[in-house]
Amino acid sequence: MNILMLGDLLGRAGRDAAAAAIPGLRKTLKLDAVIVNAENASHGFGLAPEMAQVLFAAGADVLTLGNHAWDRREIIPYIAQEKRLIRPLNFPPGTPGAGSVLVNLPSGHKILVAQVMGRLFMDALDCPFQGMEALLARHRLGNGLDAVIVDIHGEATSEKMAFAHAFDGRVTAVLGTHTHVPTADHQVLPGGTGFAADLGMCGDYDSVIGMAKEAAIARIIRKMPGERLAPAEGPASLCGAFIQTGADGRCARIEPVRLGGRLAPAMPVV
Ligand SMILES: [Fe+2]
Ligand SMILES: [Fe+2]
Repeated sequence: MNILMLGDLLGRAGRDAAAAAIPGLRKTLKLDAVIVNAENASHGFGLAPEMAQVLFAAGADVLTLGNHAWDRREIIPYIAQEKRLIRPLNFPPGTPGAGSVLVNLPSGHKILVAQVMGRLFMDALDCPFQGMEALLARHRLGNGLDAVIVDIHGEATSEKMAFAHAFDGRVTAVLGTHTHVPTADHQVLPGGTGFAADLGMCGDYDSVIGMAKEAAIARIIRKMPGERLAPAEGPASLCGAFIQTGADGRCARIEPVRLGGRLAPAMPVV
């Protein structure tokens, strides 16, 4: 089974590039599932329901969010009725939406996608490790569950690496999002879990993590709010990871995907 996950879509540049590329990538990479982090799709802040619909129509099977989940308020009623859109599972009890979803894919495979949020340099939330343990107590890889993909949305590579090792062998892949910069550590851990500390954003890299440079630089130098940040609108680099599962649902192969824009390209040969 072949799976693609794309990192944080940043504004129009990111979401248009993703919607344009996903149909072709589904064919060339022979994909069974496509997962997309969409927390920054709306001008860098949140996701609007109509944007989610465009991404689903383009071929995304599951969308994930993050700390920007509720920046567009319209998503709150939408997530309550759209199970394919998930938010971190360690948000407070009673938060709208769910932190995981089981999807029966057209290929006949069954996949569990979950999102957790890290706590280092992030909001104080429930423990992502305990939340993941509780989820895996209800869903075990194998026995008709063909893959478990976890989006860990966090700032610190240490926390994301610790999380991946803690669940090594029990999930197909742990894939980091949120920093908007891709790491080069794609690997299959000893127990068979694929890992990358951060997929990077899908957006214009001639920017400060996706936002237009001038206002972002000024904010960092002056330590004052100043001009509102807006997404950089040059050509986007799509960034993500390609995962191939083995017979037992563990990760047989994980490789970076980078397409378009300024970053050096990377495309698995399938
Ligand atoms: Fe993000
Ligand atoms: Fe984030």
